Amino acid sequence: MKITWQSLFPKCGKSEDVSCMIQNKIIPKQSSLSRISISDFSSSVLPEELSDSLVGSNLYVFTLAELKVITHGFSSSNFLGQGGFGPVHKGFIDDKLRPGLQAQPVAVKLLDLNGMQGHKEWLTEVIFLGQLKHEHMVKLIGYCCEDENRLLVYEYMPRGSLENQLFRKYSVTLPWSTRMKIALDAAKGLAFLHEAEKPVIYRDFKASNILLDSDYTAKLSDFGLARDGPVGDATHVTTRVMGTQGYAAPEYMTTGHLTRASDVYSFGVLLLELLTGRRAMDRSRPSREQCLVVWARSSLKEARKLGRIMDPKLEGQYSETAAAKAAALAYQCVGQRPKFRPRMSAVVETLELLKDFDSTSDSFVYTVSIKSDESKED
Ligand SMILES: Nc1ncnc2c1ncn2[C@@H]1O[C@H](COP(=O)(O)OP(=O)(O)OP(=O)(O)O)[C@@H](O)[C@H]1O
Ligand SMILES: [Mg+2]
Repeated sequence: MKITWQSLFPKCGKSEDVSCMIQNKIIPKQSSLSRISISDFSSSVLPEELSDSLVGSNLYVFTLAELKVITHGFSSSNFLGQGGFGPVHKGFIDDKLRPGLQAQPVAVKLLDLNGMQGHKEWLTEVIFLGQLKHEHMVKLIGYCCEDENRLLVYEYMPRGSLENQLFRKYSVTLPWSTRMKIALDAAKGLAFLHEAEKPVIYRDFKASNILLDSDYTAKLSDFGLARDGPVGDATHVTTRVMGTQGYAAPEYMTTGHLTRASDVYSFGVLLLELLTGRRAMDRSRPSREQCLVVWARSSLKEARKLGRIMDPKLEGQYSETAAAKAAALAYQCVGQRPKFRPRMSAVVETLELLKDFDSTSDSFVYTVSIKSDESKED
């Protein structure tokens, strides 16, 4: 039997009562083994099983009226940004809204009913983020499903997206050490997804989907395009080609075959963005420079050439050795052949070493072979 959303949550869509869904229940979270996949959802899972599982994720159900109040009627002064799903507004939850839910700022994402995304992306986000919790994944606090309206309520990330921090015209330059911390955090988030009991392919890894906390802790957001990884002997999952140009792996673009290595490619592109301060795809540049990977690839393995493509806004304030190692890692990640790209756990290990290298070079000068770099540390 095909389980539909309406059959699972029969009252969903009636604005007078959405209490059919997960109501204010705090039950320990499910283990990754029992994580419900999107495919389970559309085929064999029983309504009460799904409901139980999502209850375990501590999601709160909000009414549209409540979300209107906390965002001041989705006012322009609370507007945070807009993506493919729809507009995002800041809101503030007080401690009286729900028992057990502490007062906090939140970000409320409202589905644009005239946009390209819809119920499917909303549901994918609820199912994945409701069940997968990690310090480098943005926390989904709850959602709203009333009539055709679909909303998502997240923890508020004060520094917004990495895209804004890295590329916005008048933003303060991110120092090298912060860039490496962001790369490491994001790599940890991706490694967690890839190495879960039931692996997840994120598929939309990019600067605008990395959100930053006040201390620049990075978290992955936007799971609307995520997919369960291949199971058993399968090497890939086949999907409609979706994602973002400049970040999507070439073999995925041509075949629709999605693997964890496709995410690793996108991670490599992001690392290049952090190194060069250039966007993955920039149509305003001369044609040879529009695609970051194409432009940067041949400069990644030679220190002399690397210096020419590093972000001028860094003003040389980085360790050349660390930059060379990061560039070599990016080179591996954006390799043409997916099976030679590193796994995300190996990427995390390399970035951890880079972090140690940087701090070690400050404290234990004698361990560093190139003295000229020390003056360039942050
Ligand atoms: N939890 C959050 N806290 C603070 N700001 C947020 C949060 N979520 C989103 N934003 C802001 O809203 C903007 C739009 O986010 P959204 O994820 O909808 O779109 P996007 O990532 O820019 O584009 P795309 O639809 O291609 O993923 C972000 O760039 C960010 O500035
Ligand atoms: Mg996004």
